[in-house]
Amino acid sequence: MSLPYYPINDFDPAMKGMVIGGLGIFHVFLAQFAIGGGMLMCYFQWLAQTGRSALARRFLDSYFAWLILLSFVVGALTGVAMWFTSIQVGARTIGLMIDEFHWLWATEWAFFCVEVVSGYAFYRYGRFLADRSRMILLVLYSVAAWGSLFWINGILSWQLTPDGWLKDHNVWSGFFNPSFWPSLLFRTITSMTVAGLIACIVINTMRDLDRERRRELINRASHFLGPMILLLPLGVWYLMSIPADSREWVMGGSAAMTMFAAIAGGCTLIVGLYALIGLIGQKLYIDGLTATVLCFLAFVASGGGEFVREGTRKPYTVRMELFSNSITEREVAELRRTGSVTNDPYPMRDSGQYPNDQVRLGAKVYRFQCSVCHTVTGANSVVFLAQTWTTPQKQMNIAKLQHTKPFMPPFSGNAAELEGLVQWLSWEAAGRPMSWSETTQDRTAYLRIGSWINEAGTQSAQNLGLMRVDREGQ
Ligand code: HEC
Repeated sequence: MSLPYYPINDFDPAMKGMVIGGLGIFHVFLAQFAIGGGMLMCYFQWLAQTGRSALARRFLDSYFAWLILLSFVVGALTGVAMWFTSIQVGARTIGLMIDEFHWLWATEWAFFCVEVVSGYAFYRYGRFLADRSRMILLVLYSVAAWGSLFWINGILSWQLTPDGWLKDHNVWSGFFNPSFWPSLLFRTITSMTVAGLIACIVINTMRDLDRERRRELINRASHFLGPMILLLPLGVWYLMSIPADSREWVMGGSAAMTMFAAIAGGCTLIVGLYALIGLIGQKLYIDGLTATVLCFLAFVASGGGEFVREGTRKPYTVRMELFSNSITEREVAELRRTGSVTNDPYPMRDSGQYPNDQVRLGAKVYRFQCSVCHTVTGANSVVFLAQTWTTPQKQMNIAKLQHTKPFMPPFSGNAAELEGLVQWLSWEAAGRPMSWSETTQDRTAYLRIGSWINEAGTQSAQNLGLMRVDREGQ
């Protein structure tokens, strides 16, 4: 059995997840705008052609220019950047996603093509077309935009709840997984919210209209915020559909996850209350600044939500199938025999900086097994986290990694690698001195480490039933 190795890039002091997450939240937000925006335009086109609103058509044309500029240009740029960064961080996860859902990616791409072509056609020729043709283009655009969400949502939700797929490896069991529907509906409503809020900003830029007319448009746009009331039951449904341990981390088990979830929930609540009571209930006017602030809160909420979704999947990128560090549970025992980086063909970029081979080996083990979630001295720094531990504590806690924290995978190397890792940690913590003695002759230490690794077992904390989350430690 030979594991696939890929070159891993380093973004220190930023965590790899932060780089992808940071890009991802912009991408997701813009995608939501594109999806909800399509629906909102169909609605305004309908208002225009049925004579319900004389201003709807004016609004449509200025809104669409924004939609095209933001969602097509920036959306496409961030989308490609997502692929580019993901392959530098977790090539094997991306590989698995492509292997399993090959034709669904192709389908999503086809939907995206329809979205771009119909959107561009509307942008270029919409002004000259009759209502009926305008509507056809807009409906085509929105169905395609929502359709691309439909496809991608199945693949993303599969990562957290692959349930049936784990047994039969069937594409459709994976696609229509337990969190598919709640997350699709949740995202659809978030998209409508974003579109409605951006509409309020755009309406405020239409300065040639007087305030009364702008208010009329805002009242129409705020209809898109009404469904927000469903976010609460959908959020609960979503939480019920995800694994119990992930749910527990959101609800107090992990400080960071709980904080992100609380921020996302709080921002959603503020936007929701303002929209439902102020805009819909009282038919208030909303000025550009307030609309922008609400839109920003929606952005924060959506970002927080994405972080939670990604974070609660730890230690997996595909639950029960692939650990975040691109190792499967089935491979752990083998890697413990052969060593995890023995066959890693990629040299260390800073190979000359290490004082000896043992420390160099440890740095390489860190790169392969730990660097996907930690940095050396930046965010979630592995050196700082282990700083207060004595050498035997380091040896034991790392050997029993999944017991130390259930959101870490089991340690997947041999005793020599683990001791290398421990020496590297101590050497880093000591300020990287020029000389450092090797401990490769310490047989008793190796034996002790070996027995701790064996005691830990090769399974994840989830499979071992160690769902308990350490509440003090964080
Ligand atoms: C799937 C992601 C992930 C991987 C892979 C991972 N860790 Fe962690 N680790 C975490 C998270 C999250 C924390 C919690 C940080 C906190 O509590 O602030 C953590 C905590 C720690 C701690 C502190 C534990 C404590 O009880 O205070 C140490 C030490 C550590 N990790 C070392 C490692 C080493 C060494 C490796 C590689 C062999 C590794 N980690 C791999 C995610 C990971």
